[in-house]
Amino acid sequence: MSFKLPSLPGLTGQLKDKLIQQALERRLAKANAPLEHAQNDKSTQKTPTLASNSAPSTNAEQSQERDLFCRFDQFPGYKQIQILHGGAQRLGLSNPFFKSHDGRAGAHTTMAGKPLINFASYNYLDLSGDARVNQAAADAIARYGTSVSASRVVSGDRPIHHALEQAIADLYGTEAAVVFVSGHATNVSTIGCLFGSRDLIVHDEYIHNSALQGIQLSGAKRLSFAHNDWNALDSLLSQQRAQFERVLVIVEGIYSMDGDYPDLPRVIDIKRRHRALLMVDEAHSLGVMGKTGRGIREYFDLEASDVDIWMGTLSKALAGCGGYITGERTLVEHLKYLAPGFLYSVGMSPPLAAASLAALACMKAEPERVGVLQQTGELFLKQAQAAGIPTGTSTGLAIIPAIVGSSIQATRLAERMFERGINVQPILYPAVPEKSARLRFFMSCRHTTEDINTTVSALADEYKRLGI
Ligand SMILES: Cc1ncc(COP(=O)(O)O)c(C=O)c1O
Repeated sequence: MSFKLPSLPGLTGQLKDKLIQQALERRLAKANAPLEHAQNDKSTQKTPTLASNSAPSTNAEQSQERDLFCRFDQFPGYKQIQILHGGAQRLGLSNPFFKSHDGRAGAHTTMAGKPLINFASYNYLDLSGDARVNQAAADAIARYGTSVSASRVVSGDRPIHHALEQAIADLYGTEAAVVFVSGHATNVSTIGCLFGSRDLIVHDEYIHNSALQGIQLSGAKRLSFAHNDWNALDSLLSQQRAQFERVLVIVEGIYSMDGDYPDLPRVIDIKRRHRALLMVDEAHSLGVMGKTGRGIREYFDLEASDVDIWMGTLSKALAGCGGYITGERTLVEHLKYLAPGFLYSVGMSPPLAAASLAALACMKAEPERVGVLQQTGELFLKQAQAAGIPTGTSTGLAIIPAIVGSSIQATRLAERMFERGINVQPILYPAVPEKSARLRFFMSCRHTTEDINTTVSALADEYKRLGI
């Protein structure tokens, strides 16, 4: 797709970026519009339209129009990707996505032979690559092979599945747990399976995409409340509760873009008063919050039964791949028989189940990893704040954003950091609103004080050099 960025002689860099960004946003919106809206785009040679009020088109024109609907390069999402790539290329920015690590990525990594301090992996407790975790995975391969080759419901479990599910239930003090092959699919399948069109699902506005997809699948009515705004949640439920059968409230243990967390005891009080169910996504809080890494429940000293659906992923602190739901036995049994992502999908690969089981054992045996992770995050946050870097509402628990406020500048900043030996991912519009485009730092318990000093001082330097 050809895309001309305005040439803007005589403008300051900042204003130029802003105009370019606005031009990009306009192009992106246009790419997403129904094809009839392309009519005004003089750069499009042919204007396909299915609008009923347009002049009747000939058979040849109609078939040409339909042909466009069969072309992958005309799909709105693909056109948007091309616009973003084109824009970045013209600005001289390299693609910040799909960078390749040469080997294991923890607090440090190597890319194309270049050693880097790494802040772009969720290896919070440095257990991915731990010799004990690797050995457990290797042993599981030797015993079970690499795949269970079918759905567990029809083809059978392996003892390693039961051991992992029991360990998760024990960790929470719940009755049972079930593991899915993907964290994302866990949310989609669980929410999609449990709720329906007579139900209401209310969620924090910053909830993860996987929960949103699950809600869409369920057909329930969806309403969001402002981030961590408990009065808004309370009044929303006061207005809406009576019109629905089941009501589910969804929050996260730690929010993945901002590194802050909900006042869970308040949410529990609200959900009880309104006779709602509560689901907590602990993708980023397990292994990170609480003295021994048992998550937000430990942090607030709550009962397992205070939350109806505990969800988490195995891909972050637990060094594997997949997700879990834990809670009452009836909930788990329901999901095991009916959740499509469990019933119609292969069971978890044995080496992955074994890796997460071993990582869980390491976390329990070595809670000092969690303590160091927390101290490291706190140090990073304090230093960044002292250097005047906007870190939003981050609490320093594993995730610390450096807000830039422009996707172009965030991409440039990440590039500059990379040149200085620091790997950090920019988060850009439309993943976040343009005004909160950012770099996002994930902490590891293996980051050293020197890593933090080097990084924050490079960051402060580059903020200045780029005029952010
Ligand atoms: C809050 C949250 N929930 C669910 C997921 C999906 O987990 P996974 O990447 O393990 O599929 C993520 C992924 O980062 C997440 O941040």
